[in-house]
Amino acid sequence: MTKTAAIIGGGVIGGGWAARFLLNGWDVKICDPDPEAQRKIGEVLANARRSLPGLSDVALPEEGRLSFHADLSEAVAGVAWIQESVPERLELKHKVFAQIQAACAPEAVIGSSTSGFKPSELQQGAARPAQIVVAHPFNPVYLLPLVELVTAEQEVAQRAAQILTGIGMFPLFLRKEIDAHVADRLLEAVWREALWLVKDGIATTEEIDNAIRYGFGLRWAQMGLFETYRIAGGEAGMKHFMAQFGPALKWPWTKLTDVPDFTDELVDLIAGQSDDQSGAHTIRELERIRDTNLVAILRALKGQGWGAGALLTDHDKRVRAATALAARAVDGVTPGEPILTQARAVPLDWTDYNGHMNEARYLDAFSMATDRFMEFIGCDADYIAAGGSYFTAETHIQYVDEVHAGARIEVKTQMLLGAGKKLQLFHWMYAGERLLATAEHFLLHVSLETRRPSEPGPEVAEGLRRVAEAQADMPYPEGAGRTIRRPG
Ligand SMILES: NC(=O)c1ccc[n+]([C@@H]2O[C@H](COP(=O)([O-])OP(=O)(O)OC[C@H]3O[C@@H](n4cnc5c(N)ncnc54)[C@H](O)[C@@H]3O)[C@@H](O)[C@H]2O)c1
Repeated sequence: MTKTAAIIGGGVIGGGWAARFLLNGWDVKICDPDPEAQRKIGEVLANARRSLPGLSDVALPEEGRLSFHADLSEAVAGVAWIQESVPERLELKHKVFAQIQAACAPEAVIGSSTSGFKPSELQQGAARPAQIVVAHPFNPVYLLPLVELVTAEQEVAQRAAQILTGIGMFPLFLRKEIDAHVADRLLEAVWREALWLVKDGIATTEEIDNAIRYGFGLRWAQMGLFETYRIAGGEAGMKHFMAQFGPALKWPWTKLTDVPDFTDELVDLIAGQSDDQSGAHTIRELERIRDTNLVAILRALKGQGWGAGALLTDHDKRVRAATALAARAVDGVTPGEPILTQARAVPLDWTDYNGHMNEARYLDAFSMATDRFMEFIGCDADYIAAGGSYFTAETHIQYVDEVHAGARIEVKTQMLLGAGKKLQLFHWMYAGERLLATAEHFLLHVSLETRRPSEPGPEVAEGLRRVAEAQADMPYPEGAGRTIRRPG
């Protein structure tokens, strides 16, 4: 089936799903009776375009086509994935599933974003119950990878997991269905305690948020609960931790499952404290602050190859394998053309106080282009592990134009010299047709054992020879060989 998804209900969550599918190259058809739906989805998409593409170190596929449909049957006909994200009312969801199943393909997956209902409840009265699964995401759906996948049907689960993985998500398969799944149960326990703490005047909303974001929230984002506690047990590990802190759970610290009544007084207290804490920002501003922070955290985890960051790297590998960035010189070099060495979006954390990509990040992108050129000629991870590499000795960059977060950039490379130990490269960076910068680098091949210049191995020498041959007739680039002129 083609990569087309239907989003039924385009509110906070449906809009996030739409952005996640679209920016991963899927066509998206939306059905939502709200006359404001188009505007609201446009705003979610603007946030997503600014933040999601730059999470990857490779360009995501071309954005898919977005269309709006008043007729639900038209939206779901022939699509591979249907995501139901209408309000959390069971009878409404049943009505919507009946309409979906009357018009969709039997092999399509119908995912429900429900935060609380079990698949067996959603499937009641359905024409093809097995087709309906819980696919519970987290806000913002375009940045957070987790989806709780709940279904008793193994075959449907596998198909669903494959599609979700393909759009960069992490399907967490639940062994058994349960009200509110796993993550919302954990969140509810914390939320319940927090409500008591505010109601009893122990802490304000801001103090509770500080208790999380200055402390255990940072631990949770990278190791979760159990791995963190294992370390807290010291060298003796988990058993010791449980022996030490387990009994405290029986002390009357928690209010157990008691929930404070949502009286007007409590609602006013919490809403008032929340206004004091965060009222200086609009919701749209808070969304952007949240997204910027999430991108920075996720990209830091990516650098460590850990948790949600490792998932991003896996997604990049899959996306890259389908692009020209996977090619090698031994498989052929297009004569007379520079080599594509980078195609990516500008990450949010590469922009500075002027709102555009910082000058140091131009060098970041160029140095990735150089790494990619090295890989292209055979100086790849295995070659480097065996002791050979290139070190950069000199760089000259010309900044031509500015570029903003989310914009797609490409770097193309001409080899000016590639003989013996010497390698001289000239890179052009573009956003579409617009030239952003050029860079010239001089590199020396080195032995990583002696840290001194050395002749490249035969495979790299052959890669260099092939590029030199293919680019022999290319003109010497304008701007190459430049230095900053002496003043006066
Ligand atoms: N908000 C969250 O943080 C969150 C997180 C995870 C899951 N969910 C779940 O996602 C679902 C949607 O929640 P939301 O927060 O996006 O709600 P929302 O109110 O923002 O959006 C619901 C949308 O559904 C539309 N709608 C109503 N009836 C419809 C119909 N018959 N056909 C098509 N569209 C219809 C509404 O116009 C609205 O735009 C719920 O099941 C909720 O439990 C919410």
